[in-house]
Amino acid sequence: MPLAEKYAPTTLNQMVGNEDSVERLMKFAMESHGPGTRRPLLLYGPSGTGKTTAAHALAYSNGFEILEMNASDYRDAATLSNTLIPASKSSGLFSRKLIIILDEIDERSDKFDAGSEKVIMQLVKESRHPIIFIASDFWDRKISFLRESVDKIEFKRVNKEEIRKLMKTIVKKEGAEISDQTIDQLVARSNGDIRGGLNDLEVMMGGVPELIENLGMRDRKLEVYGVLDKIFLTRNFDTAREAGMNTDLDSDMLINWVDENVPNRYTWKLDLISAYGNLARASFFLGQASRKSYYGYLRYSSILMTSGVSLAPSGEVSYMKNYAFPNNIKQLSKSKASRNAVSGAIVKLVYALHASKKDIFNGYLQLLKAMIKEGTKEYGEEKTFEFFQRTYSLEKDDIKAILASN
Ligand SMILES: Nc1ncnc2c1ncn2[C@@H]1O[C@H](COP(=O)(O)OP(=O)(O)O)[C@@H](O)[C@H]1O
Ligand SMILES: [Mg+2]
Repeated sequence: MPLAEKYAPTTLNQMVGNEDSVERLMKFAMESHGPGTRRPLLLYGPSGTGKTTAAHALAYSNGFEILEMNASDYRDAATLSNTLIPASKSSGLFSRKLIIILDEIDERSDKFDAGSEKVIMQLVKESRHPIIFIASDFWDRKISFLRESVDKIEFKRVNKEEIRKLMKTIVKKEGAEISDQTIDQLVARSNGDIRGGLNDLEVMMGGVPELIENLGMRDRKLEVYGVLDKIFLTRNFDTAREAGMNTDLDSDMLINWVDENVPNRYTWKLDLISAYGNLARASFFLGQASRKSYYGYLRYSSILMTSGVSLAPSGEVSYMKNYAFPNNIKQLSKSKASRNAVSGAIVKLVYALHASKKDIFNGYLQLLKAMIKEGTKEYGEEKTFEFFQRTYSLEKDDIKAILASN
């Protein structure tokens, strides 16, 4: 379970920061017992400050059942109307104690706005149950129709001291070893977004300890983030290139980080294609540099993977997701045992394929695995093994290790 989920508050008392807002929520819960007694609330503020969590905590600790909708549910007014209106009117002896939470209410599609506003206003007028709206921006025109009908409660970015305290508690509970200095950097980076901060913390704690040690990466992820920010967010040739030149990170390592995170930043398909095009060329020159020992090629490679990716997008760059640890590096270290078994096979392949161990690991292994599987299906195990022995000098055990690798 992700850290942010594991440590999500389940009662309002556990919420960090925004004390006044939390207190007003408690008051709202107290006043929401009789039917139709209360004006709806609108919680608003930047993401990761606990709006959704607070609404849920309020419901849990006061025995409300939740009827909840969010951005993905706001598709057509009819569905909205069919779900919300009847539920909002349910009453009588056996009626449940219900709270209606309309999350991400400012993220309805334009197309759907007109009809939905009517339904929502009807809901506000007729509901017998308390309603909480949640939005990120109070001034978004998509919720202008609501402003007069709700009491608003702001959720501000949570202050650094509070986030630091929360992170330290979690680090301690998890028995993780993370320096105060690193926590300080994470806190600064979080910019008041607790979810973001916890996700970064998780990346720092996660990964494969042995691997992180090996790569000297423990305290270097933040440095990597800095380089990635300059590549993905500046759209500037020189800034991106210099970020690549000034880091001690190997090109081999950097290209993996960029590769893994392109889809976390670029949202337009054409931008992805263009970024990956440049990465493919970067990878080509990187391979040439080590194969031909001509290190001039490293320069091309470096520029393509930094400036080339930085200038790739013409569309929107998304800031929503956190950077992810490169998957194929994680895979490399996933299982030492299977790695040892497979490394015997890789050594043989170095001679058969005239490629480096790393290239074989990153480029060929999956391919060979697929070939072995297909071959076995088509021609049976024996013939397939024979073929691989003849062509690549692989023994039965090697082939099995490749099949078992991930
Ligand atoms: N005020 C807070 N106190 C403790 N944890 C929080 C707080 N705000 C956010 N979090 C953590 O971040 C996660 C996401 O918060 P969420 O309520 O979804 O934010 P929002 O709805 O404002 O974007 C929660 O699951 C929780 O782990
Ligand atoms: Mg939310």
